[in-house]
Amino acid sequence: MTRVFSGIQPTGEVHLGNLLGALRNWVRDQHTADSLYCVVDLHALTVPQDPVELRSTTRQLAQLLLAVGIDPAVATLFVQSHVDEHTGLAWIMECTAAVGELRRMTQFKDKSDGASFVSGGLFTYPALMAADILLYDTDHVPVGDDQRQHLELTRDLAIRFNNRYGDTFIVPEATIPPVGARIMDLQQPTRKMSKSADSPQGTIGVLEDLGAVAKKIKRAVTDTDNEVRFDTDAKPGVSNLLSILGACTDRDPASLADDYTQYGPLKADAADAVCAVLEPIQARYAELDADPGAVDDILSGGAAKARAVAGPTLARAREALGLLPAR
Ligand code: TRP
Repeated sequence: MTRVFSGIQPTGEVHLGNLLGALRNWVRDQHTADSLYCVVDLHALTVPQDPVELRSTTRQLAQLLLAVGIDPAVATLFVQSHVDEHTGLAWIMECTAAVGELRRMTQFKDKSDGASFVSGGLFTYPALMAADILLYDTDHVPVGDDQRQHLELTRDLAIRFNNRYGDTFIVPEATIPPVGARIMDLQQPTRKMSKSADSPQGTIGVLEDLGAVAKKIKRAVTDTDNEVRFDTDAKPGVSNLLSILGACTDRDPASLADDYTQYGPLKADAADAVCAVLEPIQARYAELDADPGAVDDILSGGAAKARAVAGPTLARAREALGLLPAR
C-alpha cells in the first residue's frame, strides 16, 4: 500500500485555504493509502513560542484534524515531539545536508531576512522535515507549492545517503494539489489566503462564527465589469469565489460560472456552501472540546503506531552509518 505522510505546524489559525487546499485531501487519502499525519510542534520551535500557548494550540490542532475527518482507526495522527526518532534522524540529515543547500532554501531566506533573532533550527528546519518524511518510508507527500523546494531537498538527501551508505531510505515524491483548490485572500485575491494576512477580513477561520463567515464572503472584493467568468488573471476576486464554491460543492469552478449572471447570487451561494462545509466540523470540534482526555488518548495511540515504523528505520540508518549499537 502507498504510504502518505504530511505535517502541519501548530501555529496560527487554520483557515479555509488550509482546509480546501490540503486537509480535505488528507481525509480523502486516508482511505486509499497508509497515511500518517503529524502535528509538527518541533518545527514551531524554530521561532520562540509561548509555552502555554504552544501546548494548547498543539492539542487544538490535533482536535481540529479529527473534527475535519481524520479517522484514527484508519490513519495515524500524532504529535512530532512524542516520537523521539524525529530528532534522532534529524541530526543525521543535518550531517547529510550541505550548508550551501540549506542556505538556498527560499523559506529560510524569507523568514530570516530582517529578523532580529534567527535560530540555528530555522536554518536546519528542512533537515528535520526530511527526517519526518524518511522515517516512514513515505512514497507521497501532499504539500503546498511553498514546500516543493523542501521536498526536493528531502529527495536529494535520501539519494545522497543511499549512495554513500547503501539503500536505506525510500525516495519520496511530492503531490502538489490541483490549482482549483488554491484559495485566495477575500480582500486581496491575488494573494493566497494566509494566517498572516494584513486584514482579518480576507481570511476565513475554520472555527469562526458562521454569521461572520457569511458576512466576509458577501463583502469579498470582486471586479468592476459585473461579468461572472472564471479567469484568475483578469478577474481574481470572482474567480476566487468560484473556486471556493467549486471546492465546497465538488464542482468545476469554470463551469459553475455559467450558472450566474450577477455577483450577488454567487456570493450568497458561496457563503451557504462554505457554512455547510464548516458547520459539521465545528460541531464535531465542540464535542471533542468537551473531552480533552479522548484527544490525548488518540494521540498517544498514534505515537505508538508511528514509533513502530520510525524505530526500525532509524535503526537501519544508524547501522548503515556504522554507529556502534547500544546493548
Ligand atoms: N514545513 C511544512 C510546512 O510548513 C510542515 C512540515 C513539517 C511537513 N514536516 C513535514 C510537511 C513533513 C510535509 C511533510 O507546511
